[in-house]
Amino acid sequence: MSGCGSAKGRADGSEPGVRPARRTDLAAVVEIEAAAFPDPWSARSFADLMARPDAALLVAAAAGEVAGYATLTLRGAEAELTSVAVSPGRRGRGVGAALVGGGVEWARGRGAGRILLAVRTGNAPAIRLYEGAGFRLAGVHPGYYEDPPGDAAIFVLELAD
Ligand SMILES: CC(C)(COP(=O)(O)OP(=O)(O)OC[C@H]1O[C@@H](n2cnc3c(N)ncnc32)[C@H](O)[C@@H]1OP(=O)(O)O)[C@@H](O)C(=O)NCCC(=O)NCCS
Repeated sequence: MSGCGSAKGRADGSEPGVRPARRTDLAAVVEIEAAAFPDPWSARSFADLMARPDAALLVAAAAGEVAGYATLTLRGAEAELTSVAVSPGRRGRGVGAALVGGGVEWARGRGAGRILLAVRTGNAPAIRLYEGAGFRLAGVHPGYYEDPPGDAAIFVLELAD
């Protein structure tokens, strides 16, 4: 899958590499979250996620600067990519694709057979990102989102050979 390769940063640090978040990344993660979503998670919520053995907070970072983050959870053989966001000034340069690739590696490394995600049906950049990473539309969940109301497209990536 093409996205996996882009998860590795360049040796010179000019492209963000994807790695598990550290506590010192949390302020930047929260800032990116607040710029991306109307109902942002707090630093405490991200810290709680980091502490869970069945979840991950990954960041794309270069030269100490966090450009974006992804969150995942794992239940049995099924992983869920619960969020991806990139700093507004860093979008359109492959950071999202690198984060999705890092998430796929994380899920694969924990024995997941598939990854699910839900995205607003009108979120064209995110849908293009996920389709580019190999996710396929599995269905639409009407009324999945409440604030603002909206439908979710459910995407799946099968990892098993
Ligand atoms: C969705 C998001 C994470 C994409 O991050 P990004 O770093 O810009 O993505 P990339 O640069 O890796 O681009 C990945 C693909 O999406 C496409 N894309 C990016 N921005 C786009 C836009 N505004 N419109 C259409 N397609 C877009 C790119 O062209 C690329 O597709 P391609 O490989 O076919 O050219 C980013 O727009 C974002 O943070 N949005 C707000 C939060 C959000 O909606 N997250 C997803 C729901 S949880």
